Amino acid sequence: DLPRFVKIVEVGPRDGLQNEKNNVPTSVKIQLIHKLVAAGLSVVEATSFVSPKWVPQLADAKDVLSGIPQAPNVRFPVLTPNLRGFQSAVAAGAKEIAVFASASESFSKSNINCSIEESIVRYRDVTAAAKRHGLRIRGYVSCVIACPVEGAIQPSKVAYVAKELYNMGCSEISLGDTIGVGTPGSVVAMLEAVMSFVPVDKIAVHFHDTYGQALANILASLQMGISIVDSSVSGLGGCPYAKGATGNVATEDVVYMLHGMGIETNLDLNKLMEAGDYISKHLGRPLGSKTATALRKL
Ligand code: HMG
Ligand code: MG
Repeated sequence: DLPRFVKIVEVGPRDGLQNEKNNVPTSVKIQLIHKLVAAGLSVVEATSFVSPKWVPQLADAKDVLSGIPQAPNVRFPVLTPNLRGFQSAVAAGAKEIAVFASASESFSKSNINCSIEESIVRYRDVTAAAKRHGLRIRGYVSCVIACPVEGAIQPSKVAYVAKELYNMGCSEISLGDTIGVGTPGSVVAMLEAVMSFVPVDKIAVHFHDTYGQALANILASLQMGISIVDSSVSGLGGCPYAKGATGNVATEDVVYMLHGMGIETNLDLNKLMEAGDYISKHLGRPLGSKTATALRKL
């Protein structure tokens, strides 16, 4: 059965802007987040408290997070790779964090400079601290279909990492096809493996649209009962440690599809498009959403 309501987790300000070559001013990031909240989003991933040597684009994490007015019904999770990042996030006012592991050893090494097992140990400390502070925790698994170095990743490996993150207290597990190579064929098999360990209502899907498969993969996921979808406005993004990977599926395109299917999101497509116009203009690039491109021509 298809869900009647889908929760969209907007990741553009983080997954999108972490990958920009040119520096985006803090004020523009904050303004973008404002516009996304105005469009009705209830979860906007705001930034990452990671090493500025690894991701200089998000070196202003503290100023971004403290610059967002805390709307009562909106959550602003931030990525925290270690206890150091966790402490900075809490100091800046974070109420929700996200830890990010990988199903690929090579990607784990290139993204967070440790093995999968080491990351799990590290995240146990981070999640224990988050629980003590009463913070909600999201857990990411990346390379759930394939890794840029290792190629195909076994669904059982994804299921293992997802289970570890779930058992340490992550309330939602986001499954990332980091390089966007999945099809409904590979995605269904991967989801089946994860669903034996994590309840379906705790699973989110996170598709990059490198091969144009994201909407098909989202539809296949919805048919399996998943009701949480990550996306980024105007399809911003990519990952600095996954060469060639393009942005997340565009939020506008996901919303157009869901509304067309009679599935509710509580989002205002026009206001989302305004957020997309704003950031695209700032970055000096065409709209990354096909829906917005089509509607702007009318
Ligand atoms: P490391 O070099 O092994 O760590 O990096 P370290 O402990 O040796 O520290 C190195 C330096 O960074 C030190 O500074 C630390 O103080 C500093 P120095 O002494 O040389 O001046 N440092 C920090 N600074 C600020 N905040 C921190 C922090 N930690 C250390 N939290 C580390 C390990 C994990 C820190 C690094 O690899 C890192 O920051 N990685 C983050 C990479 C990243 O953000 N990737 C993108 C997000 S994941 C993604 O996009 C995928 C996803 O979207 C899902 C999908 O699509 O599949 C989620
Ligand atoms: Mg991503």
